[in-house]
Amino acid sequence: MSEGDKHDHGPSHSHEHRGGRHEHKTRFHDPEHAAEFDRRKSEIRADLAEKLAEMLELGSEESVLEVATGTGRAARPVAKRLHGGRIVGVDQAPAMLEVGHRHEEPIPAYSQCAGEADALPFKANAFDRAFVSFSLHHFGNPERVVREVLRVLRNGGKFVILDPVLKESTDALGAALDAKVNEVFRRTHGQDFRFHTASGIQRLLLKAGYRGARARVVTYTFDQEGMDGIPTGAHWLEIAAELEAEAPALAERLKATYFTWHKHGDALHVSGSFPYALVSGEKPQ
Ligand SMILES: C[S@@+](CC[C@H](N)C(=O)[O-])C[C@H]1O[C@@H](n2cnc3c(N)ncnc32)[C@H](O)[C@@H]1O
Repeated sequence: MSEGDKHDHGPSHSHEHRGGRHEHKTRFHDPEHAAEFDRRKSEIRADLAEKLAEMLELGSEESVLEVATGTGRAARPVAKRLHGGRIVGVDQAPAMLEVGHRHEEPIPAYSQCAGEADALPFKANAFDRAFVSFSLHHFGNPERVVREVLRVLRNGGKFVILDPVLKESTDALGAALDAKVNEVFRRTHGQDFRFHTASGIQRLLLKAGYRGARARVVTYTFDQEGMDGIPTGAHWLEIAAELEAEAPALAERLKATYFTWHKHGDALHVSGSFPYALVSGEKPQ
């Protein structure tokens, strides 16, 4: 397993201006990164994708939308549960769509479309189900995205969001740790990056007009050498190293909240847990 994000140095995120249009480029626009992303395997991701597929409560002939589909990794287990329906995946990064398009294990009943999550290229009431997997934390305007999904869902249609989340914090030290976590992730993923909490995602859906918003938090524990197999694990090691050097009180809070680490020789033993939220809501009838 090697799920942890590559340990990059320096920002791989850039802004470009072409023909007066402001383009926002992320590492997902890099074909090499897109191919590497698709090769990563993780039992945690696979297990979460199955839970997501279950939560969509697919019957038959449904029309399903995946927003920010990437290379289609989460669409694959969902497609296996579809009976006669179809999945459309939309993503802003052509490099990710291309890897999905050429995949050696094509996804049945799946088609792709280039587009922005906050300006979906679909008419209203077009889908029975919609989902977002491992992408909410990349959206600069998640409020607009969930409203767009509400627009394209039919009445009674179901939306499920799966995302790694922060544990709920209630004091100043917790808020400082959350800020540090986002700061480190932004170096690689750009200024739009922001981890949410499970209750924050639930509120996002309720505020947009979904009803019956429910959050389920799944926490995976680990006790192993290095962060292989832990989604985004490498960035958490950066956070640990920086806090240990700069802010011992925050390093202690990181240990109490997420994981502890011990160096022995060249190896690093890590032990702790990370939470993931599965949040669902329905478009009112
Ligand atoms: C971590 S990948 C997740 C891909 C896939 N859903 C999965 O679970 O493997 C995040 C994806 O979100 C896409 N993305 C980020 N912001 C987007 C936006 N505003 N509109 C459309 N796609 C976006 C990226 O291009 C990337 O493919």
